[in-house]
Amino acid sequence: MQDSTIQAIAWHDDHIAILDQTRLPGKEEYLICKDLEAVAGAIERLSIRGAPAIGVAAAMGMAFACLQDETSDSDAVMAHLEHNAERLLATRPTAVNLRWAVERMMETARGALPEGVQAVKERLKAEALAIHEDDVTVNRNMGACGQEIVPETATVITICNTGSLATGGYGTALGVIRSAVAAGKKVFVAACETRPLLQGARLTAWELQKDGIPFELITDNMAGNYMKRKGADVVIAGADRIAANGDAANKIGTYSLAILAKEHGIPFYIAAPTSTIDMSVASGDDIPIEERNGNEITCIRGQHIAPREIKVWNPAFDVVPSAYIAGIITEKGIVRAPYRESIEKLF
Ligand code: MRU
Repeated sequence: MQDSTIQAIAWHDDHIAILDQTRLPGKEEYLICKDLEAVAGAIERLSIRGAPAIGVAAAMGMAFACLQDETSDSDAVMAHLEHNAERLLATRPTAVNLRWAVERMMETARGALPEGVQAVKERLKAEALAIHEDDVTVNRNMGACGQEIVPETATVITICNTGSLATGGYGTALGVIRSAVAAGKKVFVAACETRPLLQGARLTAWELQKDGIPFELITDNMAGNYMKRKGADVVIAGADRIAANGDAANKIGTYSLAILAKEHGIPFYIAAPTSTIDMSVASGDDIPIEERNGNEITCIRGQHIAPREIKVWNPAFDVVPSAYIAGIITEKGIVRAPYRESIEKLF
């Protein structure tokens, strides 16, 4: 299992290195980010993406910017932090791990403030590194308890990229698959390509190939036919935000996959850390859905594939109602319906 060699993001004392996922799998290039704007831009462009990885990037960006801050005035330092938090929160509205990480960093700064500006800086760096490290542990725990839902011999359908690239390391849905393989199960993966930005084709296929996990790539619109003709034992997807009632927002196409799974009698699972659960949101209807530029649909790698100046709708995520979800795999265990009660117990 070579997943540990994939590092979506790394802290260095003079920069933050971000593996530019827009260039994968063709080029393995790290962006050298030396200020907050470089990190915010990388999140917006999807050079780093996946809810937990966005949280890690935001935390590192805030710590790095604070360390660069030359003022010794504590009010000014806090004002800069607030400003940077706002900037980061505006980058991608659906992934709640971003807000979770930013709030955790602000709380850390407030806690350290009575000890002075230097303490704030040191504590923020330690906190960002801890958020990164903790995410890997959380994913491994999620994998360990989630792999039990994968039969000894199984075909697993997944969507988007939920692996080391989308997290601090190891992955959520892909982490569960990795753990099932590590437990000796014979797992075969059907990876949906994930239009429009092809995170499945470009990134999941790349990770699975590196790990030597057998898989085949399908286009998103083949999933129903795949279930009917080839069959699958389980569908596992990640999430960007889970409401208090268990409704889960994830990459566009996940909702269709869940409906298809139900129609074919295949259990559909979500794998996500508890930091993806947003108890302040009652149901999926209240989850803000990011809408992205239409050129992500009309162009592929800068090449127009549709007529110019046409109307395009490009929501980046959809919501799977909890009624379609057989279980939500977290680092603390698998929760099942009734979700409102089982999720409350988790906290
Ligand atoms: O737009 P993206 O690539 O950031 O979307 C990512 C997803 O939808 C993932 O499934 C989700 O963030 C969970 S990743 C561990």
